[in-house]
Amino acid sequence: MHKIEVEGLNTSFDCQEGDTLVRAALRAGIAFPYECNVGQCGSCRFEVIEGDVEASWAEAPALTPRDLRKGKKLGCQSKPQSDCKIKVRIDQNCIPHFRPQARAAELVSVRDVTHDLREFHFKSDGKAEFIPGQYALMALPGVEGPRAYSMSNQPNDEGDWCFLIKKVPGGVGTDYLFDDLKKGDKITLDGPYGLAYFREDTDRDIVCVAGGSGLAPLISIATAAAYHPAFQNRRIRFFFGGRGPADICGDDYLRLLPGFGDRITFHSTISVPEMDPNGMWVGPVGFIHESVENLLGDDLKNYEYYIAGPPPMLQATLQMLAMKHKVNVEGIHFDRFF
Ligand SMILES: Cc1cc2nc3c(=O)[nH]c(=O)nc-3n(C[C@H](O)[C@H](O)[C@H](O)COP(=O)(O)OP(=O)(O)OC[C@H]3O[C@@H](n4cnc5c(N)ncnc54)[C@H](O)[C@@H]3O)c2cc1C
Ligand code: FES
Repeated sequence: MHKIEVEGLNTSFDCQEGDTLVRAALRAGIAFPYECNVGQCGSCRFEVIEGDVEASWAEAPALTPRDLRKGKKLGCQSKPQSDCKIKVRIDQNCIPHFRPQARAAELVSVRDVTHDLREFHFKSDGKAEFIPGQYALMALPGVEGPRAYSMSNQPNDEGDWCFLIKKVPGGVGTDYLFDDLKKGDKITLDGPYGLAYFREDTDRDIVCVAGGSGLAPLISIATAAAYHPAFQNRRIRFFFGGRGPADICGDDYLRLLPGFGDRITFHSTISVPEMDPNGMWVGPVGFIHESVENLLGDDLKNYEYYIAGPPPMLQATLQMLAMKHKVNVEGIHFDRFF
């Protein structure tokens, strides 16, 4: 166990051997800045003033040559080897509502949702505490570094954790999850993490925009909103974009919600028409952000947005909303699925 002092902050926190600075700070209720937890976004940059810190992934993409020259490190990839003093810009938005913890979880069932998207249901001791939209880190045997996956279910007292995971060709973690993990096997789930969670304190209607693997957190958010007493008169517009018709899914989860087809609507788009060789697809063809723009038009500014999916889809949607239509960024919450 190492003691970590944060410059300018009148407190310190403990970091267990093998834990990262981001995770240890959040476990102590300290708002260390972060987003992805997997070395890709760069939000967790910090400097070491005193002490020894080991990089668990020295080549993490978020570290630029400039960062390296200036001695910057990534908090999510840094494991202290001694007591340390560090410099980091604390971000109050990162204060955890539930302090993350690691727990063993057993795979109890799987279900194929599409040709490459599978629902995994794990069970742990104790409660599954998170806010809809958040994610957990999975430590998988033989896989270097944890993998982040968003919960698709609701928080519960029974220890149920459900995920919708897309198989990535050649991906080390998804190869393990799809090909090696068997019912009854246990993995470590660490969480909850993430800032793109359901906001209860707004009076706007909701738009969810999911691309590819981004379905899980938005199903969880739409479900929470559908049952929330204060949201009974709100619209929930759910947009889902896939490459071809075989990728389109998610409506079966939404159909179970009160108000589906009325105040809750599902809009799907495919982006690669060649993946519909027999011309069976009758919906729009294009990118999902174009569908959002076409359908909402002058109303774009009136919604609270939740967006999840691959970084290019996120970038295009954010550009359309914030840059082109000047939608207030405080009402846009997103997770980039690196
Ligand atoms: C916040 C968040 C939520 C996500 N939620 C979902 C979801 O709900 N469903 C879904 O299908 N996908 C989700 N993803 C994507 C998911 O985490 C994986 O990136 C994806 O499944 C591919 O994993 P892979 O191991 O198969 O691919 P790989 O290409 O083998 O691994 C890619 C991932 O592993 C990390 N990584 C690679 N090498 C190392 C290393 N040496 N040390 C440490 N880390 C390393 C990368 O940062 C990247 O996250 C999410 C990602 C993020 C950031
Ligand atoms: S939180 Fe560390 S790089 Fe994203």
